[in-house]
Amino acid sequence: MITPNLLRGEKVRLTAVTSADLATITRWWADPDFMRLYNTAPAAPRNEDQISRRFELSQTSNEAFLFAIRPLGGTSPADDDTLIGLLELDGVEWANRTTFVSIGIGDAAHRGQGYGTDAMRVGLRFAFHELNLHRVCLTVFSYNEDAIALYERLGFTREGSYREHLERDGRRYDMYLYGLLRPEWEKNL
Ligand SMILES: CC(C)(COP(=O)(O)OP(=O)(O)OC[C@H]1O[C@@H](n2cnc3c(N)ncnc32)[C@H](O)[C@@H]1OP(=O)(O)O)[C@@H](O)C(=O)NCCC(=O)NCCS
Repeated sequence: MITPNLLRGEKVRLTAVTSADLATITRWWADPDFMRLYNTAPAAPRNEDQISRRFELSQTSNEAFLFAIRPLGGTSPADDDTLIGLLELDGVEWANRTTFVSIGIGDAAHRGQGYGTDAMRVGLRFAFHELNLHRVCLTVFSYNEDAIALYERLGFTREGSYREHLERDGRRYDMYLYGLLRPEWEKNL
């Protein structure tokens, strides 16, 4: 029996990112607290055109899958279209069946409610059981304790450290590499 509702979890569903989401994403990009957890790039605001171009690449590439995270709203026609986060598989290497994953829940008010955990579970199911990948990996900054806790809860192993990779506020920080293999993920199903 194949998995029903592959892209729906217990709290969220993964859908396409649309032009209607650009204003929300642009607001997140203007929030340095979010950006300094999400990205190594300078936390500089971008306008909607710039954001649109950035995501166009993910949407046209064969090596990337970009999803909007939206809350479940009960029955399917009543689903809530609010954008609460982004989940992206990128840098897919088809020959090696590996990918990177990234996740961000944009508004702090939406964090700590189980959305990130659920979205990652759905994203991993898509990566392992739809794309048939063997390995999913990610990087996370040493000061991002919430994200580290999430990845370890999901079974990711810390595989290494990009020592002093990041400099913020005059201090250098490590960036950790985490990986999860398909058999490890399947053991916890
Ligand atoms: C890291 C991030 C994705 C986690 O997503 P999240 O939705 O906040 O995570 P969850 O709510 O699923 O889990 C966080 C905590 O809430 C708890 N939780 C889960 N369901 C809950 C619920 N219904 N009510 C209250 N708390 C809940 C979890 O147990 C967890 O607690 P713990 O860390 O003490 O174990 C999110 O904080 C985020 O986007 N941060 C900014 C960007 C970022 O850091 N991205 C990652 C870059 S590597």
